[in-house]
Amino acid sequence: MNIQQNKDLTDFNTFRVKVTADYFVEVTTEEELEDALDFSFTKNIPYQILGGGSNILFVKDFQGVIIHINNKGILWGEHADDERIKVNVAAGEDWHNFVILCLSKNLYGLENLALIPGTVGGAPIQNIGAYGVEVKDLIESVRVFDVLEKTWLKLLSQECAFNYRSSLFRGSNRYVVFSVLFELGRKWEPKLSHKELSDKFRCKKIEPLDVFEEVCRIRTAKLPDPTVDGNAGSFFKNPFVPVSELNRLSSEFPEIPFYNTNDPNTVKIPAAWLLDNLGWKGKNLGSAVVSSNHALVIVNQGNASGEQIYDLAREMSLSVFDKYGITLAPEVKIIDS
Ligand code: EPU
Repeated sequence: MNIQQNKDLTDFNTFRVKVTADYFVEVTTEEELEDALDFSFTKNIPYQILGGGSNILFVKDFQGVIIHINNKGILWGEHADDERIKVNVAAGEDWHNFVILCLSKNLYGLENLALIPGTVGGAPIQNIGAYGVEVKDLIESVRVFDVLEKTWLKLLSQECAFNYRSSLFRGSNRYVVFSVLFELGRKWEPKLSHKELSDKFRCKKIEPLDVFEEVCRIRTAKLPDPTVDGNAGSFFKNPFVPVSELNRLSSEFPEIPFYNTNDPNTVKIPAAWLLDNLGWKGKNLGSAVVSSNHALVIVNQGNASGEQIYDLAREMSLSVFDKYGITLAPEVKIIDS
């Protein structure tokens, strides 16, 4: 096990915040993961699992060990039949590359999730979703190390407590995701419920590649490229509010948009609209800037510190609470110890 000390994490978080970790270990095998965790227990220091670093904000230097999951490998075709195929993917594989590989092998289901930054391991953790698809619907099971019981487990999708941008793995360090078993389709079933896709493709004969390319086009137009301007996508989740609350808000803000949810008594309101309506686009705190294209995205336009990004986000959520009485929860995982 190669333990690096005082490691600069700038290249390991897509906000490109310049912080250090006391210790840093790159893990490519199950044994290495167990050794890295043992190191943290023996030294009695905290550990933080890191994949692509695309959904994390380090508010300050990390006084513990960063365990960077970098295992590789894709096993195609476990338990294949005419309709579906299972694909086992190491957590350290790049998400977007995996989506492209699936398309090249005529395996479908993930095309709406193109261009999401991060690794395959991050996908179940926050149940990534975009353009009418959530990854939970394509996952059969997740292989994890249970840190508490010190044992390897295969958790079926139903056991992962998947929900909007959340799962059993979010918010607790107990389970470390090491590989994901996907179940993909051999026959394409287009998912065009999202308005931007249905508007574009209504009554047209289309191929999976058309959807993939359109999703890439929309994302590129709307969201800043993290390889150019440091960011972590949506900073906040879209809030769920009771219909009674929506009625109250609609009387004051008649143009407020909302989406129905599985629960008839609850709707989801776009946080971006709430922030945009408060004039947040383009506002800044030092080099931490609210994107002028999308009010839900905070961009590091230079050398913003984690604290600046965090303080800007706090001001944004406070202003939303003051004006609408709605609490915004961060989508990004905040590490401040
Ligand atoms: N809007 C504004 N101002 C803006 C941007 C959006 O008013 O600056 C309003 C518009 O009414 C728009 C609505 O907000 O119709 C929704 O905006 P958008 O379609 O961009 O989607 P979103 O709800 O902001 C969510 C996900 C994205 C995902 C898109 C597409 C969350 C937190 N974010 O964003 O995921 O790509 O839908 O499905 O659920 C991410 O998680 O990092 C992410 C980018």
